[in-house]
Amino acid sequence: MAPTVLITGASQGIGKATALLFAQNGYDVVLAARDRDRLNRVAQEIVTLGREALTVPTDIIDPQQVNTLAEKAIAAYGNIDVLVNNAGICSTGPIENTSLEDWHKIINVNLWGYIYTTYALLPQFLASRAGTIVNVGSFGGKVPLPYMTAYCTSKYAVTGFTETLRLELEPKGIQVCGVHPSVTNSDFLERSIFRGQDEQEANQRLQQMQEMLKSPLASQPEDVAKAILNVVKHPQAEVIVGIGAVATATHRLAPGLMNLILQQTVKA
Ligand SMILES: NC(=O)c1ccc[n+]([C@@H]2O[C@H](COP(=O)([O-])OP(=O)(O)OC[C@H]3O[C@@H](n4cnc5c(N)ncnc54)[C@H](OP(=O)(O)O)[C@@H]3O)[C@@H](O)[C@H]2O)c1
Repeated sequence: MAPTVLITGASQGIGKATALLFAQNGYDVVLAARDRDRLNRVAQEIVTLGREALTVPTDIIDPQQVNTLAEKAIAAYGNIDVLVNNAGICSTGPIENTSLEDWHKIINVNLWGYIYTTYALLPQFLASRAGTIVNVGSFGGKVPLPYMTAYCTSKYAVTGFTETLRLELEPKGIQVCGVHPSVTNSDFLERSIFRGQDEQEANQRLQQMQEMLKSPLASQPEDVAKAILNVVKHPQAEVIVGIGAVATATHRLAPGLMNLILQQTVKA
């Protein structure tokens, strides 16, 4: 039987690239995201690659939908070898312009979504004493990025979730790995939250982000997908993909210096 992977946020960006790469490497793939048509298009590409794909339209902020996703995945394949928690959204803006509604949205998708999927598949991982959980975090979960407080809070929580779960589950035969992308030229602007004191300031933030994505320093979704496949093949605690690795290493060695640099370079 082919190995199986379940990927959230598999319709676009990093999740889609990961789904295609795993299919190229012999995996059957369970694809989850909200948009059914996009999921079906990814599934068709996987079938063209000679593998099976199951699409389960799912909003990961709803635990019942996530349980249904896990049930359908297990019913179809009997066992899921790899869970990739990936569906996430970005938000930038001064904290005073970030509403509590924004906070709830970010934390619900970026943190609770990961917890729900992990809980839904945990019984089968524990029963088989095998499997890998890859949590896609962010270098914003390793380094504090000004004007991204809600996003960084959610991603620091993902780091804590990943590192702690790893210690608990590793003795039970289950690998838990964190893959932390830097700025990646995916489709995330489609659903990012940009805030400012007015619409003009919010649009400026969007434009800044668009410029960053054009930079040769930006990663591509395929770079992150390769890192995800690699940690499944060669389990390790965490990998930081792209230019954020330098910032993370500097922050670890000299946090005061790095914080000063961040305050001076990332302005309101
Ligand atoms: N791109 C970057 O610069 C960057 C940097 C660091 C970390 N990351 C992290 O990488 C991960 C993937 O991001 P990406 O850049 O590939 O984003 P993306 O291109 O916007 O793709 C996000 C995927 O998540 C799905 N999604 C969003 N909300 C969802 C929900 N409530 N339920 C189910 N699926 C949902 C989207 O599909 P639907 O909208 O159809 O549901 C889509 O398939 C995220 O965790 C992100 O934080 C990205």
